[in-house]
Amino acid sequence: MKDLRGLILSGGKGTRLRPITHTSAKQLVPVANKPVLFYGIEAMAAAGIREIGIIIAPETGDEIREVTGDGSRFGVEITYIPQSAPLGLAHAVLTAEPFLNDSPFVMYLGDNLLQGGIEELVAAFRAGTPDALILLTQVEDPENYGVAELNGDGSVTRLVEKPKEPATDLALVGVYMFTAGIHDAARAIEPSRRGELEITDAIQHLVNSGRRVEPHIVRGWWKDTGRLDDMLEANRLILDAIEPQIDGELIDSVVDGRVIVEGGATLIRATVRGPAVIAAGARLTDCYVGPYTAIGVDCELQNAEVEHSILLAGSSVRNLDGRMESSLLGRNVRIRRDHSQPRAFRFMVGDNSEIGIL
Ligand code: G1P
Repeated sequence: MKDLRGLILSGGKGTRLRPITHTSAKQLVPVANKPVLFYGIEAMAAAGIREIGIIIAPETGDEIREVTGDGSRFGVEITYIPQSAPLGLAHAVLTAEPFLNDSPFVMYLGDNLLQGGIEELVAAFRAGTPDALILLTQVEDPENYGVAELNGDGSVTRLVEKPKEPATDLALVGVYMFTAGIHDAARAIEPSRRGELEITDAIQHLVNSGRRVEPHIVRGWWKDTGRLDDMLEANRLILDAIEPQIDGELIDSVVDGRVIVEGGATLIRATVRGPAVIAAGARLTDCYVGPYTAIGVDCELQNAEVEHSILLAGSSVRNLDGRMESSLLGRNVRIRRDHSQPRAFRFMVGDNSEIGIL
């Protein structure tokens, strides 16, 4: 088999993560302080893939290029491929055809996280030489995904994109392996009800044409980080596996369990109970950070309690009486409580923000 190439889809609008995605790409939202997108690149690099194309959208492409670079830091070579409009995953494949040529490739949705990487899958793809290899996993809400139906012998019979009445609970995971035949399949299909060229339909076309589509059931966890709750869960799953490392400065502070405190972070009279990561430049004074929290670069916590949350760079939380939890703060967000009278709430929040006072 020719060398595998990588294709990462990092376009799309990220509507389910607004307002964060009003100013930034959803694939750059950090999980355990690292952009989601980087996990996919690293998984490909670990599987021996050297040439990776990244599909970018006009709105967020520049930011993705700037943050991700030419790939050298991951040991790969990245080619950016602009897609004019979000016309579907199969459209993205066609857009990447000049880059992919007739190479077999791994396609990875840039907002997906797959535990355990893709090494084993790549090996299975090389060994079995099917026309396509798809990953499936059981989910509770199959209507939100591509859904697969299998035969008694385990072969794929039908794939339907977001069916109203799903026939099974087997969802298509956003990591696929294809041979070059997928290009003709993508050209043969029509746009779906949502006006997109669906990769699910292109794979169905392979099945209908008698091509071999091999399904694999995912063993570890898989997350599509499209929504806040998924993002927090992904953060939790990744933090659960970190190795503790304290490089920052601790003054009268206590750190328990799996905690990373990066160099340049300062903790003064703080208690951190892991799993948690505190990025460089963060300053935590008189506060408590509870499990499953990722504090970004240059964040400031003062007299506050934060748990099960993600704080992006430059955000601050001060003098909260209660504990902040299950929250996602964008960049440079400021939350504070003053003790002036009369007591009141005062907000300045962007479009599509969400505030819960519990
Ligand atoms: C896409 C695919 C869907 C797949 C999902 C996995 O959905 O169309 O088949 O199950 O990714 O994340 P979308 O994220 O475009 O809604």
